[in-house]
Amino acid sequence: MNPSQPAAATAAGARTMKAAIYRRFGGPDVVRIEEIAQPAPRAGEVFIRVMASTVSVADHRVRSRNVPKGLVALTALTLGVFGGLTAKAFLGMAAIKSGDTVLINGASGAVGTAAIQLAKHLGAHVTAVSSGANRELVESLGADSFIDYTAADFTAVGTTYDVVMDCVGNAPFARVQGSIAPGGALLLVIADLRGMLGARGQSRRSGKLVTFGGLKLTYTAGDVAYLVGLAEEGKYRAVIDRTYNLADVVEAHRFVDTGRKRGNVVLRFP
Ligand SMILES: NC(=O)c1ccc[n+]([C@@H]2O[C@H](COP(=O)([O-])OP(=O)(O)OC[C@H]3O[C@@H](n4cnc5c(N)ncnc54)[C@H](OP(=O)(O)O)[C@@H]3O)[C@@H](O)[C@H]2O)c1
Repeated sequence: MNPSQPAAATAAGARTMKAAIYRRFGGPDVVRIEEIAQPAPRAGEVFIRVMASTVSVADHRVRSRNVPKGLVALTALTLGVFGGLTAKAFLGMAAIKSGDTVLINGASGAVGTAAIQLAKHLGAHVTAVSSGANRELVESLGADSFIDYTAADFTAVGTTYDVVMDCVGNAPFARVQGSIAPGGALLLVIADLRGMLGARGQSRRSGKLVTFGGLKLTYTAGDVAYLVGLAEEGKYRAVIDRTYNLADVVEAHRFVDTGRKRGNVVLRFP
């Protein structure tokens, strides 16, 4: 549900707002714009006027129930985060230092485009994996090397990386362990239940960090301030693919469902 700016008071006096709402799971068409009562802030809470938001893969997953194997029940409780913050939290788990090599699988998406820039800021050498159509984009964000997954399998060439970050869900430990340097890390931004349950044992046996974040994935006001600071210094930019008005929210969902968005899809509340 994406609340927009407040509308005028109703005849009864209650203030209302527009919201994008779905009441059943399904395709983009289940999303409707409705007029609902404004929530009233309680003591210690603030009421925020939202000018713009995004339609993310998390929105797609929750709406369509297209989630990794075994995770349908967990989904409703856990999804709905902001790409820049996600990338920062995962990269933070690998304690990346200058000179480390980082491979980002799914580098042209919301998380990937943020991760490239943040890893570069930490001094890493970044290899981006996406389709060839997005090569220019990921290189413009700082990627040092590029692999087109439609032409080459990064796990098959014998190169190892200090950190492999999977933003696609097709790079479980079993597939990529040979591509991770001794003592390196596999950051599973997206994993199925099996991948999650296996992570701790894989870490212990291999001496490589394998993590899907779990409870250690935290976001603080300091993280937001860090990203805002980088953006103000011109060292970080949110990649925006398309922008839709709230009235076109179904179209926005339809586009995100293609799995081909570059960076983020913005939803504006004009
Ligand atoms: N754990 C968390 O807290 C958390 C938070 C946010 C998101 N997520 C998850 O993270 C994932 C990524 O989110 P996102 O918003 O970045 O997704 P996205 O914007 O849809 O991007 C995914 C990217 O992956 C690329 N891709 C598709 N197939 C690929 C393949 N076989 N190999 C390599 N790259 C491929 C696509 O690029 P091309 O168009 O070039 O193919 C696309 O740009 C989603 O599954 C989302 O649910 C998790």
